[in-house]
Amino acid sequence: MPQAWTIKKLLDWMVSHFTDEKIDSPRITAEMLLSFVLQMERIQLYMHFDKVIGKPQLDKLHSLVKRCIQNEPVQYLTGRCEFYSLSLKVAPVCLIPRPETELLVERAIEFLRSRTGKQYVCDLCTGCGCVAAAIAKNFADAKVIATDICDKALSVAAENIKKYGLEQRVELLQGDLFKPVISQLDEGNLSAGGFDLIVCNPPYVSRSEYEKLDAKVKNYEPKLALDGGADGLDIYRRIAADAAGHLKKDGALLLEIGYQQGLQVKKLLEDTNAFGRITVEKDFNNNDRVITAVKI
Ligand SMILES: C[S@@+](CC[C@H](N)C(=O)[O-])C[C@H]1O[C@@H](n2cnc3c(N)ncnc32)[C@H](O)[C@@H]1O
Repeated sequence: MPQAWTIKKLLDWMVSHFTDEKIDSPRITAEMLLSFVLQMERIQLYMHFDKVIGKPQLDKLHSLVKRCIQNEPVQYLTGRCEFYSLSLKVAPVCLIPRPETELLVERAIEFLRSRTGKQYVCDLCTGCGCVAAAIAKNFADAKVIATDICDKALSVAAENIKKYGLEQRVELLQGDLFKPVISQLDEGNLSAGGFDLIVCNPPYVSRSEYEKLDAKVKNYEPKLALDGGADGLDIYRRIAADAAGHLKKDGALLLEIGYQQGLQVKKLLEDTNAFGRITVEKDFNNNDRVITAVKI
């Protein structure tokens, strides 16, 4: 009789298979797929190492492993992603939140904590709502307006906002950058003269970089979430032109940027003469990642 497939045996097999196939983070990927199929938390796998897995679940796992080997991102296969200690829904209509983007959230929360009273935040290009949700969850006095041009991505964001009970403090609006905001600003914000903070992780991949992206990204993640125009700076130009008009004096603009876009985006903001204290910060890989500018 063939030996039964236990959780331990399956994990060992997947880790070795994923390593051979050069899949990123083989163990985490294996744990994510198996815990998804078994509807368990990852930690529970280790508490049930000897549990024998039945044929229907083995078949489901087998098909997911095959798709994973063909470069389909594990987050789309499981429909889940961890971001800033939140467990969020993701779908192929939205970008998979990246660990690098946590730096943007970190700086946003720090800025909000340096101020007093209710804080009005605008999250442009919200996608699955990861930045808006992380800010609202960690800063109780924040009222966030989050926009995205893609209504399907906003449906995913709505589920994430609801999951964390943030519906009263995060409003989702469909449209092009600031366009849906103008007529929708709530009274408190209007009378106080704009947002305290604008954050955005826009599409910033240039045409030439887009062609060279990993198959995992290029074949599965939405082009709308990545394509920043010929030089990758299209959305930054538009934000630089409009952001100051939506910010209070001393309000901050925080943007995620590509790994070598620091100088160019800094220049775009300097040229507006509307911002001071413009700083570029690098991420844990020593790449340009977040630019901060304060409205003067
Ligand atoms: C890089 S993703 C960021 C998603 C999410 N904020 C994150 O950090 O993972 C960019 C998002 O911008 C949206 N987008 C692209 N062009 C836009 C535009 N002109 N106005 C508003 N949103 C736009 C895309 O639909 C996508 O969800």
